[in-house]
Amino acid sequence: MHGLCGEPGSVRFPGFVLRDRSLRFRLLSRFLPLRWRRLIWVSLALLITTATLLFGSYVRAQQPVTISFLLRAVEADQMQGLAEQFMAENPDIRIEMVRGPNAADAVENLYTTSFLLGDSPYDILFSDVVWIPKFAAAGWLQDLSDRVSEADLADFLEADVAAGQYKDGFYRMPFRSDMGMLYYRTDLLDQVGIAPPQTFSELISASEAIQDQTDVDWGFVWQGLQYEGLVTNFVEIVAGYGGFWIDPDTLEVGLDQPAAIQATEFMKGAIAQGISPPGVTNYVEEDSLRQFENGNAAFLRNWPYAWAEANGDDSPVAGNIALKPMVHAEGEQPAACLGGWGFGISANTAHPEEAWRVVEFFTSPGPMKDFVTEFAYVPSRRALFTDPEVLAKFPHYKQLLEVADTAVPRPPVGQYAQVSDILQRYLSAAITDQMTPEAAMQAAAGESRRVLGVES
Ligand code: GLC
Repeated sequence: MHGLCGEPGSVRFPGFVLRDRSLRFRLLSRFLPLRWRRLIWVSLALLITTATLLFGSYVRAQQPVTISFLLRAVEADQMQGLAEQFMAENPDIRIEMVRGPNAADAVENLYTTSFLLGDSPYDILFSDVVWIPKFAAAGWLQDLSDRVSEADLADFLEADVAAGQYKDGFYRMPFRSDMGMLYYRTDLLDQVGIAPPQTFSELISASEAIQDQTDVDWGFVWQGLQYEGLVTNFVEIVAGYGGFWIDPDTLEVGLDQPAAIQATEFMKGAIAQGISPPGVTNYVEEDSLRQFENGNAAFLRNWPYAWAEANGDDSPVAGNIALKPMVHAEGEQPAACLGGWGFGISANTAHPEEAWRVVEFFTSPGPMKDFVTEFAYVPSRRALFTDPEVLAKFPHYKQLLEVADTAVPRPPVGQYAQVSDILQRYLSAAITDQMTPEAAMQAAAGESRRVLGVES
């Protein structure tokens, strides 16, 4: 009979069916003592809660943990292959690489804001070689000392390891190193019968000859936008004149000394003399590389990665380029600015173990070698500079190891972001003709001393 059995809300008793829930309650109440009824309800509640909790953690355990970090978009594209390899080998972890701007210090600003707001969404800090003193001092990073031994670090370039140290802690595992180099067009130099330049004035005269005698528009392209890259160009040029920016031991500022003023004059002069395009004051690495690669310039200051692109199958200048240490003043030595990137772990990550597994993977020899050989980046592990497979592809890496050991670091001071910003502003003012090199460098020196808290 419809409605008598199996109908929602109905209970069958021998001989009759109870449809009313409250009646069911009353019957239960009558047959069971209060103590028992309470016990049943409490047990039921406990059972449901435990089951819900267990089910929740089961579901969570099945979901991969996401480890996220921010990096320059160009590099995110290049690191995607390694990230995918890691995820295939570690299905419990998902790597999320957030694509940031291509200017290194713009990425730093984004990280800084996220940490200042508290609870940064990034588990990992993909860090430039100059960021650690500030991030470690602010307490935004985990000390990795217990995770790596000195023996583990012995295979890495000393300068890269030093960049991860702050006070007694170690905060950044090196992934790739960097050093500024001078690229040149071998075919153009042959055409005008000039040897690769050694000095600043040879670079100028070779550029003039090439611009006069060939259809190449520009002599020398570099990075002149007001950003961190401009500072790295300056560090090389000032050292090439025998000067310095800031001595990290004494905090002495060298910007108002003759070498720094000459360096600024050289940069401004290259534009004023038509050796460098006026647009160079808006160039980051990729812009200057495009000009060189498209055959519009004879010389390029850039990092070693530019080799792979400028020599790639679809590059119009492939096979006609070479690279050498930066030019310098007569009687001085060439200088390469030390650059590079590595991994720190956020102090507030909920997943430090998973984050470390990601860091360990990227910085281990195999993945580092794959990355370096695919994109011509400079390894942080010494052994890779002389690895036969790496050398077969990039014979110049043997020479790069020497350059790496003598590269000029930017000053590892806690106020690095501020002093770099000061230098960027005044250099930019000088090369865009808003201030004389001398006035710009004097103002930059004064402001830097104030920030560093040293006497003017
Ligand atoms: C490269 C270097 C980095 C530097 C940046 C400047 O990415 O590796 O150290 O700060 O260029 O543009």
